[in-house]
Amino acid sequence: MGESGRVVMITGGSRGIGRAVAFRFAEEKPSMIILHYDPDDSAASDTVTKLSELGIQAAAYKLDVSSYKDVEALFKNVLSRFGKVDVLVNNAGITRDSLLMRMTEDDWDTVLRVNLKSVFNCTQVVIRSMIKQRGGRIVNISSVVGQIGNPGQANYAASKAGIMGFTKTIAREVAGRGITVNAVAPGFINTEMTAGLPDKIKQYFLQQIPLARMGEPEDVAEAVYWLCSDAARYITGQVIHVSGGLFM
Ligand SMILES: NC(=O)c1ccc[n+]([C@@H]2O[C@H](COP(=O)([O-])OP(=O)(O)OC[C@H]3O[C@@H](n4cnc5c(N)ncnc54)[C@H](O)[C@@H]3O)[C@@H](O)[C@H]2O)c1
Repeated sequence: MGESGRVVMITGGSRGIGRAVAFRFAEEKPSMIILHYDPDDSAASDTVTKLSELGIQAAAYKLDVSSYKDVEALFKNVLSRFGKVDVLVNNAGITRDSLLMRMTEDDWDTVLRVNLKSVFNCTQVVIRSMIKQRGGRIVNISSVVGQIGNPGQANYAASKAGIMGFTKTIAREVAGRGITVNAVAPGFINTEMTAGLPDKIKQYFLQQIPLARMGEPEDVAEAVYWLCSDAARYITGQVIHVSGGLFM
């Protein structure tokens, strides 16, 4: 177990925002569990290697977090290896964009399953042990789009708005057990998810951002880390926007 004793589990921690969150925790030397579902293991192993070089006990597991059965099995494994989870960051997410008229049922179902059902799966499985230990921190990664909408992202926006409702409800359910549950809603962040967007769309977004630049994964990680720190102990059920002012 790490020096601080905290055990941190991050879904989608192999790259992008999840990876930046993992490194933001590094200074307190927690034990770190990285979940991912990349086709190959290279990003996850690179993340684990770099975390280990910083003296952190880190492990990566490849699984589809939208499968309740697989999440349950993984958590049993995690409990026997690490004993507990103190921090859960529900960050895994995907896009399958198209205008509603062209959106397939599979595009809808897949995005809702991976982005929203996964948050139910991981939270339910982990929260039982947090309740027993009377403490824990959960941060769910939503999106500014869940609040303001975005043409071509009906499935994604619905999943991210769903995360906001879920966050507030669970925050109320477990507040008496010393557990805080918050969401972070990033705006337009420089990761693989946005790398493939056409320049025209990028330019359009940039014009809407008061701080006039894309965010970096580290900008989001800072908010996540703070919500999991003792400084934020009186904050629960909130959605913190990290969007350069895109939403205010
Ligand atoms: N990049 C942005 O501009 C932006 C903006 C708002 C919100 N977000 C949200 O932030 C989160 C991280 O996004 P990112 O930009 O770092 O994305 P990314 O594509 O770089 O990384 C996604 C991560 O999720 C994992 N993942 C995907 N499907 C999974 C599954 N079924 N099971 C387990 N893991 C799975 C991947 O393996 C990877 O580790 C997502 O929830 C995304 O919706 C991103």
